Amino acid sequence: MMADRTSGINCRSCAGLEDRRFFALYGSSSAIRVPVHIRMDKERKLIVAGNWKSNKTNSEAVALVSDLIRELAAVKEVDVVVCPAFTALSDVSKLVLGSNIRLGAQNLSDSGYGAFTGEIAPGMLRELSVRYVILGHSERRQFQKEPDALVAKKAANAHANNLIPIVCVGETLAEREAGITEKVVEEQVRGSLAGLTAEQVESTVLAYEPVWAIGTGKTATSAQAQEVHAFIRQVLTSLHGEAVARRVRIQYGGSVKGSNARELLQQPDIDGALVGGASLESKGFVEIIKNAI
Ligand code: 13P
Repeated sequence: MMADRTSGINCRSCAGLEDRRFFALYGSSSAIRVPVHIRMDKERKLIVAGNWKSNKTNSEAVALVSDLIRELAAVKEVDVVVCPAFTALSDVSKLVLGSNIRLGAQNLSDSGYGAFTGEIAPGMLRELSVRYVILGHSERRQFQKEPDALVAKKAANAHANNLIPIVCVGETLAEREAGITEKVVEEQVRGSLAGLTAEQVESTVLAYEPVWAIGTGKTATSAQAQEVHAFIRQVLTSLHGEAVARRVRIQYGGSVKGSNARELLQQPDIDGALVGGASLESKGFVEIIKNAI
């Protein structure tokens, strides 16, 4: 258990988290007995992203991000990302400029400019200062039938254009019940990262999103999530070695909300959250971020 460096009092909220190298800082007044924790794990800074999916008109997105900029202005310990629909990226981009909020998109073409009706080329996102792109979300795997090979092509395209892919993987309920979660997740990780260099994998963000937990209100328990995250890190180790695997940030997604965020994010291999429903109003998203610190 980590001790208060000034008084030697054990800090109960740090129990079991010694390896994450928290520093316990106390307020200057001796009346303040509640520690403030700053995560000092330099290898993996937490990243919490809001996936707004097909929600919010441009004006609604502008209103939401304006609230977030105000509410989260002081947050430095967590990388905060919002991923609005393409139609809102331009206006949201202007608002987040100069703030601590980064911009993500929800998809990317596997090609560049050209005759690809309906596709979004990387240069179009770069001009709007987009940093992240969500790829291989289970909704796209399910409804658009996106296979791992296409996700891998898109991820390579993202890296080639200085965009950071957030690559999603996760099993369905039937797959979990059939006891093949690891097999499914391993196939998705290997297939979706195929062809990427070790350096590209290192800067890729992975998101473990069990399909049965998305939008259902059913969250994986922190133990279930940690188990799969640790397994994904094992797969990454076998692909590119331990040093690379230790640097990859793996988010958890699936009914994350303020009330369960802290326990999930305290797990040693959970490095953030990809949030759907709870990111659609500022109060819920802010609560998750505050609980992550
Ligand atoms: P919910 O948080 O609504 O379950 O969605 C998770 C998700 O799919 C984020 O990408």
